[in-house]
Amino acid sequence: MPVIIEPFKIKTVEPLAFTTPAERLGMIEAAGFNVFGLQAEDVTFDLLTDSGTSAMSDAQWAAMMIADESYAGSRSFAKFEATVRELTTYEHVIPTHQGRAAERILFQCAVKSGQRVVSNNHFDTTRANIEYLGGIADDLVCAEARDTSSQAPFKGDVDLARLERYLAEHRGNVALGMVTITNNTGGGQPVSLANLRAVAALYKKHGVRFILDACRFAENAYMIKQREPGQSARSAHDIAKEVFSLADGCTMSGKKDALVNMGGFLALRDDDLARSARNLLILTEGFPTYGGCAARDLEAMAVGLREVLDERYLEYRLATVRYLANGLNALGIPTVQPPGGHAVYVDAKAFLPHIAPRAFPGQALVVALFLEGGIRTCEIGSVMFGKPTADGGFAASALELVRLALPRRRYTQSHVDRMIEIAGDVAKRRDALRGFEMTERPPHLPHFTARFRPEGEWVREVYGSR
Ligand code: F0G
Repeated sequence: MPVIIEPFKIKTVEPLAFTTPAERLGMIEAAGFNVFGLQAEDVTFDLLTDSGTSAMSDAQWAAMMIADESYAGSRSFAKFEATVRELTTYEHVIPTHQGRAAERILFQCAVKSGQRVVSNNHFDTTRANIEYLGGIADDLVCAEARDTSSQAPFKGDVDLARLERYLAEHRGNVALGMVTITNNTGGGQPVSLANLRAVAALYKKHGVRFILDACRFAENAYMIKQREPGQSARSAHDIAKEVFSLADGCTMSGKKDALVNMGGFLALRDDDLARSARNLLILTEGFPTYGGCAARDLEAMAVGLREVLDERYLEYRLATVRYLANGLNALGIPTVQPPGGHAVYVDAKAFLPHIAPRAFPGQALVVALFLEGGIRTCEIGSVMFGKPTADGGFAASALELVRLALPRRRYTQSHVDRMIEIAGDVAKRRDALRGFEMTERPPHLPHFTARFRPEGEWVREVYGSR
């Protein structure tokens, strides 16, 4: 097999930050050991998120220059609408400034207090928007999703037996049925076409509207092509189109698989629902032919939605994630298996078994990756989901993960080689790593602004003299 290469050449570049170990120690201490408090220009490899961090193509930049910024009836909207309609088969295309704005508008129109919305796993913003309206967000992902070492190919699948029982039990009270592709919360794992077909049939049988959270639809389509029997001869575009056609609409964060830095949309089949969504859009986002976007954002999304389905791009994209995961695994760093679409998730509980969940093993790894070589990652474990209990104990998260999210088209293979080397240096020192105490705990979404203190002096002992 020839090497899978970056299927692009580079026209515009941005310098990487190079810092010394002593500088990094000062920076992380000043940030209270929370990487969200770092200046991005001090980070060498920023793997905090794949959202809004894509490198755009020359074709996208060129399209932005010819955008029609008219308030109403913009030519750019017509182009964007035609692209989304062709791909999704949905009649109504409603631009929003990002995914969560599409979610908010949809739920405000379709979910009443006390009603339920079911999915494989709701992403944080989806869940928060449902709960904000008094709705109940339920997750029915398959059992394999909880086993980080299982090699099951579609760990984003919905548990069909549970869904069938759920829909019967809550008959008349399920406002929407959703599926997130790929399943970000569950490790970027794909959902199979067979599962999506079966879920669509169940929702239909029970009269429940089916909405996709589609922000990584292209990565999901390509994993169907690679992994699902009978799908390898189809194009990613054809598979994606079938997936969309199974549902009644989608919410979309363009910041992922539309390859843009800002933008999103809500797309729907139903005329009445679309009418109320547009009314709300005008109130809070803008006129229906621009929504929350500039026309140039719509142009960039229209081009990005086509580029993302280029199979050389998708092959390279998924190979990059696999390459990073395999590189880490070879150094004895366990990751969620099999590697998924947009990120590698390190199992910090297995990597640092000597650090108790209440001392945040994921946070220890996040801090070590920054100190070792300037990599910024995101803890998805007890910092994010753990809670002190009334009796002075601690309710830990089920999993202690660290997400290395790969921005699209941004880093080269030698960058990834260097990331693996840095992680290898952390692995050599793993026994010396210790945990943290959370010294400041904000009431909501603690991971963004919490501050930490290392247990004892381990950070200075391990990283102070280098
Ligand atoms: N749905 C999923 C599955 C997501 O991963 C995200 C964002 C959203 C919806 C919301 O979209 O940010 O455009 O409002 N995920 C980012 C991440 C933030 O880092 O995983 P948004």
